[in-house]
Amino acid sequence: DPAAISHLLRRSQPRRLGIPKRVEWFLFFKITNVDDFKKYLKELIPAITTSTDIAEIRNAINDHKNEGKQGLIRVSGINLAFSNRGIQTLGIDDDLTDPSFTSGQLARAQALGDQGQIIGDTFDVNWIPAFKGGDIDGLAGDCEASVVEAFNRVTNVLGNSFKEVLKVKGGVRPGKEKGHEHFGFLNGISQPAILSVTPPPFPGQAVVDPGIIIVGATGDPNLSSRPSWAVNGSFLVYRQLNQLVPEFSKFLVDNPIHEVGLPPAEGSELLGARFVGRWKSGAPVALAPTHDDPELAADKQRNNNFDFSEAADQTNCPFAAHIRKTNPRSDLSRFGPSATLLHSISRQSIPFGPEVTPEEYRENKTHCDRGLSFVCYQSVLANGFEFMQARANNIHFPVKQVVPGFDPIIGQNGNDTRTTQGSDPTAQSNSLSLPFEFVVSKGGEYFFSPSITALKTKFAA
Ligand code: HEM
Repeated sequence: DPAAISHLLRRSQPRRLGIPKRVEWFLFFKITNVDDFKKYLKELIPAITTSTDIAEIRNAINDHKNEGKQGLIRVSGINLAFSNRGIQTLGIDDDLTDPSFTSGQLARAQALGDQGQIIGDTFDVNWIPAFKGGDIDGLAGDCEASVVEAFNRVTNVLGNSFKEVLKVKGGVRPGKEKGHEHFGFLNGISQPAILSVTPPPFPGQAVVDPGIIIVGATGDPNLSSRPSWAVNGSFLVYRQLNQLVPEFSKFLVDNPIHEVGLPPAEGSELLGARFVGRWKSGAPVALAPTHDDPELAADKQRNNNFDFSEAADQTNCPFAAHIRKTNPRSDLSRFGPSATLLHSISRQSIPFGPEVTPEEYRENKTHCDRGLSFVCYQSVLANGFEFMQARANNIHFPVKQVVPGFDPIIGQNGNDTRTTQGSDPTAQSNSLSLPFEFVVSKGGEYFFSPSITALKTKFAA
């Protein structure tokens, strides 16, 4: 009930809806015995986290902090979502009216710009085998202080009705890197507020109809064609994005911005900040164009209160910066609010993999898999994740007096090299060659995360 959730959330005023978590394990599974799975699922449903649970958890954490208490509060969360294959395996043949979901992420890999080879008339993508095997029916996300316990609860209850295809262990980075992704930038700052669900927005925060994120809610562009059980569910994108951290850092060191008066180390920091559109602290370059401003970064009243009109050219923020490509704000105001709001997503990503070792930094070379378990929710995949990835890959977006080039963070060009413009504020039309992709897609899948009612009435037996 959105009204009840909205009421509950008023106390903790979160900017985003997911569970605040330190650890999250993703279990990708294949259903091996449909009848047993449906039976066992019924037993698992009471353990699945609802939006009301999340609101209560957020309030409890808020109270814990306000009372000056130390340490972690014990929260648990289990989330369950199904691929198109999984929904069909369970004998549900309704059309969810989302063509990208129906085709699955593998079929979309080439269009998304993922790396791979064309062999004859097929495209062989460089994904990890688990995502290429056509075996993934569902995803269980477990998070809590003791993640093993939540994970065991899922596997024990579902018993031998399923087979593990892949397990990915995500975790918040240690110490002062908490909340920062592996390149070092604070992540999860800008999230859309959801009308009549989340509390009043912070200045600059986009406000979207619930149906942009939640299927079957007001504002869902496909409202009239959804099967009734899909209402209050959401499409979940999972992407395994490897990050080449030492290589990224070396590129910044080798290409400092020669701003008047900036020593090389600061010029490198500035280049990184202009690639993302925010400094590592989270301060937006739109408001802090030459030097980091940690106070601004920490101030929720100010850290999202910009729209690129402060300097409408690339003086403050490049057109191709990651946050400007994915959310162009007032750049598209001439097309009306739907040009940006329709393409909103709710991001719930978490890093995976170990910290970079001194040896990797010495050799400027990545030795193991690390990156971002990118997770986002939306009601239409083609409007949300796929639209943003396409913009990141489109050198002409946003249309400006100069060609912006690729989003240097997530822009993909298959196996070909990339260039980006505007990274140097003193020479804005200069083109910078990016030697390879610093973020490499290793695959993923599209899932549908049903409401508890749908799990009870349609999925479980
Ligand atoms: C914002 C990093 C992948 C969409 C951000 C921010 C960082 C970041 C540091 C700024 C902080 C914030 O507002 O949360 C990364 C990294 C990625 C990645 C390192 C890959 C490893 C993606 C992907 C998408 C995406 C795949 C969608 C296709 C967004 C959006 C924003 C954002 C929508 C908020 C923009 C705004 O409203 O200002 N990302 N991101 N990111 N990212 Fe990413």
